[in-house]
Amino acid sequence: MPVRQLPEQIINRIAAGEVVERPASVVKELVENAIDAGASRIDIFTDGGGRRKIAITDDGGGMTAADLALAVERHATSKLDDEDLLQLRTLGFRGEALPSIGSVARLSITTRHKSEPHAWALQVDCGEKSPVVPAALNQGTRVEVADLFHATPARLKFLKTDRTEAEAIREVVRRLAMARPDIAFTIAGEERAPVTWAAALPGAPGQLTRLGDILGADFRSHAIAVQSARESVAVEGFAAAPALTRANALGQYLFVNGRPGRDKLILGAVRAAYADYLPRDRHPVVALFVTLDPREVDANVHPAKTEVRFRNAGLVRALIIHALKEGLAREGRRTAANDGGATIAAFRPAFAPPRP
Ligand SMILES: Nc1ncnc2c1ncn2[C@@H]1O[C@H](COP(=O)(O)OP(=O)(O)OP(=O)(O)O)[C@@H](O)[C@H]1O
Ligand SMILES: [Mg+2]
Repeated sequence: MPVRQLPEQIINRIAAGEVVERPASVVKELVENAIDAGASRIDIFTDGGGRRKIAITDDGGGMTAADLALAVERHATSKLDDEDLLQLRTLGFRGEALPSIGSVARLSITTRHKSEPHAWALQVDCGEKSPVVPAALNQGTRVEVADLFHATPARLKFLKTDRTEAEAIREVVRRLAMARPDIAFTIAGEERAPVTWAAALPGAPGQLTRLGDILGADFRSHAIAVQSARESVAVEGFAAAPALTRANALGQYLFVNGRPGRDKLILGAVRAAYADYLPRDRHPVVALFVTLDPREVDANVHPAKTEVRFRNAGLVRALIIHALKEGLAREGRRTAANDGGATIAAFRPAFAPPRP
């Protein structure tokens, strides 16, 4: 058979297989776009575990008609200029999300840019693009995704129950919301009461407010501020005192340059830092924010950008351990000074009930 170029629709579907694993990945891409557009408020609605419908509305900058038409084309992105192109792999923008989603669902985008007299809308139905038409919307962008994967039944089969998919969506939103306390979020749908996190102040106090909203009042009352920096790498955030633990490590959150990231190194570093305080089967709750030169981290290891790779992983690990150990020691001294020696025992939750 002769060699031939794959049609664009097929290329998009293959890319979609990597970028869009499940409804939660769609929500992640769309909420990230809303954040990048400068939104101060993002509303998320999903139905049927995100399979039937996902709708994300933001009040960000929106797109012009021309940008809207381009946004659903493969490798179209507004987030890199020519100089950045060399660093494409490190920065993590590939202009792939919208065309990928549009190739495996019914995608509809309505958007209003301030330079336009009114809003514009566009639909992509399993890769078939409609023309851009005038529409009604005051500000920002509304993206709707219906019947996800109806063009790729094999992918549909791999999805879990609506409940599980809905929980994966909430987890994605929780992570993004923890990273951006200055943005208000609502999550609605899935036969549950809507959840709202009001915009909090920037900086540490707002961060703690948002973390408390999401991780619970328990976390807020047990939170210790931690911080450490060296060679232009900074680690800061909050760690729960050892009195608050979980049976698994799912309460350990890492953010890299303001974005949620996963790296196995954090698990080991947290374990090492808490080793003197916790038995092996208990896990602390922490939210750590690493800030460093973007060239020092590869965010595109995974097509869905969920895993990060640090160039100097040893330094990041050392800083995480140092920040946590220092915070825990400080908290240990503080409780000892306040309540006398008895609290040292309370600092060892394995042998004492959590403080009220
Ligand atoms: N909610 C939004 N508000 C304003 N512009 C948007 C919004 N969503 C998408 N865009 C525009 O569409 C472009 C394409 O979006 P898409 O998500 O496909 O790619 P990207 O965000 O540039 O890169 P990535 O593939 O890493 O997500 C963006 O660069 C942006 O210009
Ligand atoms: Mg994007």
